[in-house]
Amino acid sequence: MKYCFYIGLLLNILLLQACKKKAVAPPVQIANLKSASSFPVGAAISSIGLQNNYVYQGTFITEYNSLTPDYEFKFDQIEQQQGHVDYTACDYIINFALQYHIRVHAHTLIWHQALPAWVLSFSGDSLAWENLFKTHIQTEAAHFKGKVSSWDVVNEAIRDNNGALRNNDIQTGDGSIWRRHLGPDYIARAFQYAHEADPGAFLFYNDYGQEWNGPKLDSMISLVNKLKQRGIPISGIGMQMHTDINVSNNNLTSALQKLAATGLKIHISELDISVNPNNKANIVFTDTLQLAQAAKYQFIAETYRAIVPAAQQYGITTWEFSDHDSWIPAFFNRKDWPLPFDADYKKKPAYYSLLKGLKN
Ligand code: G3I
Repeated sequence: MKYCFYIGLLLNILLLQACKKKAVAPPVQIANLKSASSFPVGAAISSIGLQNNYVYQGTFITEYNSLTPDYEFKFDQIEQQQGHVDYTACDYIINFALQYHIRVHAHTLIWHQALPAWVLSFSGDSLAWENLFKTHIQTEAAHFKGKVSSWDVVNEAIRDNNGALRNNDIQTGDGSIWRRHLGPDYIARAFQYAHEADPGAFLFYNDYGQEWNGPKLDSMISLVNKLKQRGIPISGIGMQMHTDINVSNNNLTSALQKLAATGLKIHISELDISVNPNNKANIVFTDTLQLAQAAKYQFIAETYRAIVPAAQQYGITTWEFSDHDSWIPAFFNRKDWPLPFDADYKKKPAYYSLLKGLKN
């Protein structure tokens, strides 16, 4: 009898313990963009910023786990005189990334812009041009073999106005010296040469306008599908997404759907969201514009997560991360505030909405 009493008492105590409200751990505070995301979150950075600005460097290290060099890896920076290659700035970025376990997306091997003067004035037959082209690609890709995760192998090969390959009109800045001297199949050979030099790197075709230019998007998809069918070693598509607060959400969604359908990795590679696409001289960055920009950052992150299969989510990269370092105001000669951090590297509403959009 006595034992039953004690067993009953013990059971009651255990029951009481079990019913005690479990201390609810406070919700884990997601403190930064990279922790919020199931895929890499990156920014274009400059070696000058990393070396000279501690707030720039500290903000980048805290928030991001992927980087794209803004300009240092480009032809006009690494080989200003033919045959004299200087990777000093590039190697600084590689060592920085190694130190902080940051993925490097290298940018870019073949572009019709950022070419050194000696290439623009080069005169040789098609064999000489092919040798110049192949030597550049394989020398640079080999130098970074095993140190970069991926390359933008070919950048912006397709014209805006009709989806054709950029070709002869060099003067307008719209032409491609590569297409002109190497023929349209230079793109396939660029990927083959890059793959030979660094078989472990993911290789991307990178371009802009997919979310507002239907012919260009269709031309891009046709190009990459043909490369895939030929067994050309292409891994992914870079959707630069230099966009603005007025861009259609339907167009954004449809472009991501079409790009994801290729089965390739999809990298939103140069995201910034202009609030002044019409170049208004007296524009003020009002709360309304702040919130419109924030909503667009959130929509893009949420839609990317919803539409691009996880295996194809190469990541989202903004083109720099602070309004202080954006290319847009100088390039378009206008006031603009396109990035998640303000010019003092303080978080904007856009930052918090991007964080929400990235969260699983
Ligand atoms: O800092 C160097 C300086 O040391 C050197 O003496 C001088 C002359 O070579 O160049 C200076 O670098 C400049 C660099 O920006 C830093 O300011 C380059 O001249 C200049 O061409 C470079 O502009 C970059 C541009 O691409 C061309 O490479 C922009 O920062 C960069 O934002 C822009 O990024 C492009 C993407 O690659 C492709 N998608 C569009 C995007 C925006 O245009």
